[in-house]
Amino acid sequence: MREKVREILTAFDGDKSQVIPMLQAIQHEVGYLPEEGMEEVASYTGLRRSKVYGTATFYSQFYFTPQGDHEIKVCLGTACHVKGAMNLMDTLERELGIRCGETTTDNKYSLKRVNCVGSCALAPVVMVEDHVYGRVETKHVKGVLDKSAASV
Ligand code: FES
Repeated sequence: MREKVREILTAFDGDKSQVIPMLQAIQHEVGYLPEEGMEEVASYTGLRRSKVYGTATFYSQFYFTPQGDHEIKVCLGTACHVKGAMNLMDTLERELGIRCGETTTDNKYSLKRVNCVGSCALAPVVMVEDHVYGRVETKHVKGVLDKSAASV
């Protein structure tokens, strides 16, 4: 892992202002942000580890565990919330046997929340990868999961 991260970092000159692009590049290549990745960024830039960890944990775009094959995002923005998005989240958590922010043990699905994906007219919205499912009802959740599983 460290070798791979070091190779990724060779695209940067070690400037402290590039910490976020470095972390993004590692996550893009590895699929998540491993601890060794943050340690290598700290070493490469001369920043303290706590500073790099603090930066990474500040941004919701970074995840620290391997992600599932399918990323399922429930929009909990105002329009979706008003239209019952929490019920969708509850149903997905029950169907998948995980909580929001977790990945199934078979690494098939990761469940996340987002705040408005710009499709409020279709509220409530669930996204699987980049596909937006609009006006989703709890009875549709199983179908959404089946469709995403079929797209492997
Ligand atoms: S609030 Fe969900 S798409 Fe805007």
